[in-house]
Amino acid sequence: MTTPAPRPTPTTFPADFVWGAATAAFQIEGATDEDGRTDSTWDAFCRVPGAVIGGDTGERACDHYHRLEEDVALMASLNLDAYRFSVAWPRVRPDGGPLNPAGLAFYDRLVDRLLERGILPWVTLYHWDLPQALELRGGWTDRDTVHRFTEYAVSVHEALSDRVDLWTTLNEPWCSAFLGYTGGQHAPGHQDEASGLVAAHHLLLAHGAATGEIRRRQPDARLGITLNLSPVTALDPQEPADRDAARRIDGFQNRVFLDPLLRGSYPEDLLADTAHLGWQDAVRDGDLATIAAPIDVLGINYYTSAHVSGRPDAGAPAPAAAVPARPTRSPYPVSDDIAFLGRDLPTTAMGWEVQPSGLRDLLVRLRDDYAGLPRLYITENGAAYDDRRDGDGEVRDADRIAYVDAHLRALHEAMEAGVDVGGYFVWSLLDNFEWAYGYDKRFGIVHVDYDTFERTPKASARWYAGIAATGTLPR
Ligand code: NOJ
Repeated sequence: MTTPAPRPTPTTFPADFVWGAATAAFQIEGATDEDGRTDSTWDAFCRVPGAVIGGDTGERACDHYHRLEEDVALMASLNLDAYRFSVAWPRVRPDGGPLNPAGLAFYDRLVDRLLERGILPWVTLYHWDLPQALELRGGWTDRDTVHRFTEYAVSVHEALSDRVDLWTTLNEPWCSAFLGYTGGQHAPGHQDEASGLVAAHHLLLAHGAATGEIRRRQPDARLGITLNLSPVTALDPQEPADRDAARRIDGFQNRVFLDPLLRGSYPEDLLADTAHLGWQDAVRDGDLATIAAPIDVLGINYYTSAHVSGRPDAGAPAPAAAVPARPTRSPYPVSDDIAFLGRDLPTTAMGWEVQPSGLRDLLVRLRDDYAGLPRLYITENGAAYDDRRDGDGEVRDADRIAYVDAHLRALHEAMEAGVDVGGYFVWSLLDNFEWAYGYDKRFGIVHVDYDTFERTPKASARWYAGIAATGTLPR
């Protein structure tokens, strides 16, 4: 990408804007069988032939479990205000059973080290590592998992709430539900339309139930959920089939979560489109009130936007990176007739189109469509690129800097338009295990050598540290 022309005025964020970086337990910790941890669905999925590119596993990941002090020092050197991390359910309650103090102790230490450095800990309770023992009993398609999650959430809360007041229940339930139970790209790898919807309902219910419990115990906690939202545009907005395709994908990507959380109901059009699947039997009296428990923050993970058509062969398909060998299906229920199209936009190593204006459009739309919207945080944004280390060991990732810079400018535009956004977390602090893509895709602002586990801040890390320190984007 070319260097943008100098701008007349600097882009400055409010003084209390939170600058952070995010990670997730399974993607960085390693030590999958230490201190009583047992399998999560991802440990099991990694063993399925063809499920993860290169047969990569989370066994060692970034070895963060053994390098916690070093990693917190690294965060401090990057001037981070906050660190968003997830707690591994199978460490804290192995097999979804009784509390394991040895597993919890790791997070206790992590929180202490962060606070010693003046870094705000932001805890995500669930970033996809369901205990495999619970999956064998039905996982997120079984209502009992809601109770197991609440029990686990309360144990983590009891241990950390004297020092933590920012809590995210779930990260990207869309992926847990639809990539996990409908498309099969993610653990546990099921491929069934109704199961994804049932899982989504139980995930939402788990969010609401845990929110209620934590609120009761810590009334001043700041509680929320993180969703991966994407604006969806129609190839030809005048064409009914394209408009309908955009409506349906927007329903399955965005409104299926936003509406129950913020309005206490599922979207009527989505209910009508999926009535024949029978998933609505999972919705019981009182569930929607539980799900709509008030939240203080809504986390948004934004990477790209979608462009769709309801007409076969209407345009060039959306670009995509090489996928794992195991066959999968569309994660969107009742959408086989919808084509995802590419535009003439640059792409990242994931094949995802770079469209910063989508972030602005999304934020403005949320403000316009949902009355009483809680404060928003960008809990993830970032990009994988084919980084290479130069002869001097440096990673000069100008493309990642350009990506983050453009998205921060789009975010700033939304804030100038009056959208209340409290902070930004780059994904990710470290290169890490990118799920079905294994270690091949590097999202970090810090490079990880997977043989030695040496961490090397990339050019983007130094650039981001400057922004975190000043709150201002270089012109
Ligand atoms: C969102 C997920 O929360 C995170 O785990 C993942 O690595 C990034 N997107 C990039 O795909």
